[in-house]
Amino acid sequence: MIFEARDLGYAQDGRPVLRDVGFSIGPGERVVVLGVNGCGKTTLLRMLDGLLFPTSGSLRYAGSTLDARALEEAAFRRRFRGEVGFLFQNVDAMLFHTSVADEIAFGPRQLGMADVDERVLRWAGALGLEPLLARPPFELSGGEKKRVALASLLVCDPKVLLLDEATANLDPAWSARLVDLLAARRDLTVVAATHNLSVAQELGDRAILVGPAGEGLLHDGPTAALLRDPELLVRSGLAHRHLHAHDGSDHAHFHVHDVE
Ligand SMILES: Nc1ncnc2c1ncn2[C@@H]1O[C@H](COP(=O)(O)OP(=O)(O)OP(=O)(O)O)[C@@H](O)[C@H]1O
Ligand SMILES: [Mg+2]
Repeated sequence: MIFEARDLGYAQDGRPVLRDVGFSIGPGERVVVLGVNGCGKTTLLRMLDGLLFPTSGSLRYAGSTLDARALEEAAFRRRFRGEVGFLFQNVDAMLFHTSVADEIAFGPRQLGMADVDERVLRWAGALGLEPLLARPPFELSGGEKKRVALASLLVCDPKVLLLDEATANLDPAWSARLVDLLAARRDLTVVAATHNLSVAQELGDRAILVGPAGEGLLHDGPTAALLRDPELLVRSGLAHRHLHAHDGSDHAHFHVHDVE
């Protein structure tokens, strides 16, 4: 297993954010983490990236406990940081170099990779960044920044990608190209958080639905089954039930509003 979470919980200043979360994610799985604003998706991804540690339960990565002590160990930290890439929801926090080229080259240089320049060009090409290579990342558009951040992760050949709202800011064509890029890397394990139901199925055939009020997972199974279950979507807060009057008779139906 890549990740194994058991009774995982996280409390911030004594306030529970996540509770009773359990799942296992195997190599090559594509898992989408769904839930409303504030339900704890980012918190969960930060735990999977070893940036936050559970306040209850346990989390394992490739059979080893993922905690502060494990990450203090140089060999484990190097392996974990080399294998797992995390696209932050706020990519500004990931971009700190003076040019896009240096930004993309940073990871491979840190990892001591031999063919850094060639890698930078390949991933700049894959993400349409060649015309921007000399530009400072901070002055790019939101979607351009997101593509730079993605290139800076993919260039390191990660085994696991944690994506936090990867398609937010991306135009429809780039969202589709990202899905294709991920689809072409079947060996990659992807855990992608989103509240955008229209891209959910493309990002992951398995969906984990986090409840809106720290009540644990409402669903862990095929994304298609979740999308066909309006009652569950309403319970999670991702859809709501509107009452309308049509042709003089009351009529109820479900609405999903995807605005990104
Ligand atoms: N640094 C922090 N200090 C205090 N509370 C925090 C902090 N970060 C997150 N929280 C709280 O934890 C809860 C979960 O936040 P989180 O960012 O994980 O939600 P999310 O599901 O990713 O939401 P969104 O869809 O808006 O990205 C929220 O109630 C938030 O207020
Ligand atoms: Mg979030």
